[in-house]
Amino acid sequence: MSDIPDAPKGPIGRFLAASPDGVGKTIAVAVFICLLASMIVSVAAVSLRPIQEANSLVDKQRNILEVAGIYEPGIDIQEAFQSFEPRVVDLATGRYTDQFDPATFDDAAAASDPELSVELDNDPAGIGRKALYRTVYLLNDDQGALERVILPVHGYGLWSTLYGFIALAPNGNDILALQFYQHGETPGLGAEVDNPRWKALWSGKELRGDGGDGDLKITVAKGVPSADMQAHQIDALAGATLTSVGVDNLVRFWMGEEGFGPYLENLREGGV
Ligand SMILES: Cc1cc2nc3c(=O)[nH]c(=O)nc-3n(C[C@H](O)[C@H](O)[C@H](O)COP(=O)(O)O)c2cc1C
Repeated sequence: MSDIPDAPKGPIGRFLAASPDGVGKTIAVAVFICLLASMIVSVAAVSLRPIQEANSLVDKQRNILEVAGIYEPGIDIQEAFQSFEPRVVDLATGRYTDQFDPATFDDAAAASDPELSVELDNDPAGIGRKALYRTVYLLNDDQGALERVILPVHGYGLWSTLYGFIALAPNGNDILALQFYQHGETPGLGAEVDNPRWKALWSGKELRGDGGDGDLKITVAKGVPSADMQAHQIDALAGATLTSVGVDNLVRFWMGEEGFGPYLENLREGGV
């Protein structure tokens, strides 16, 4: 019998037998680990996506409950959300449309679909395109009478697009609350849009003058409002003028003629 070991057979055998300090083996191990790690990350990303989407939907529903003033910690959010009646509004006519199923209509996808959106020439909210249809959420009282209307709003602040909801009384003019559920403004500055004390300033303000029949007057501005503006002016955030201007622009855009203006007019007149 010979003492000389058999030469390793095949590429795997040769690879295992190669010196661990060799350049080829070091590069091969590094490439293998990179491939394995990227496969693990890809599989995790794909398999977690449905959970992330479900969580983001529940978060949006929680925000709708909050802005409507009916959220309580510990409640079953999906069950409580059943109290709302979602409807799709045709922004041009300001009337509900049955062209789409409100349960599945995707506002974000519609905003980038050329068939369901338009590019804006005049774009104070900095959103680029405007969906022609938007989902609104109606909350009725026990007798079935409309109690609150929740409208989606979004627009650019300083660093990011802010996404939120505004809750209005059925007269389409009295503001009940404003709340953002997504933005990237700076904590302590622009992100103070989430401060409960600032949010509370919105409650009781009116969009338009003359009980809803006058001009759109709602504004976010610095300084003491004139007597005429007291019911319409929200104090701008200290140290965050640019985010405040963004909020002013987006609220005025969505409550104005290009946004929900026609719908709000129909609400005020009692027939959507
Ligand atoms: C790091 C950094 C982050 C900032 N983030 C914001 C912000 O999120 N929103 C905002 O309006 N201003 C932000 N600012 C301040 C603006 O640059 C600007 O100074 C401010 O909006 C002016 O507001 P004022 O007139 O109330 O002081 C930030 C400034 C710095 C240096």
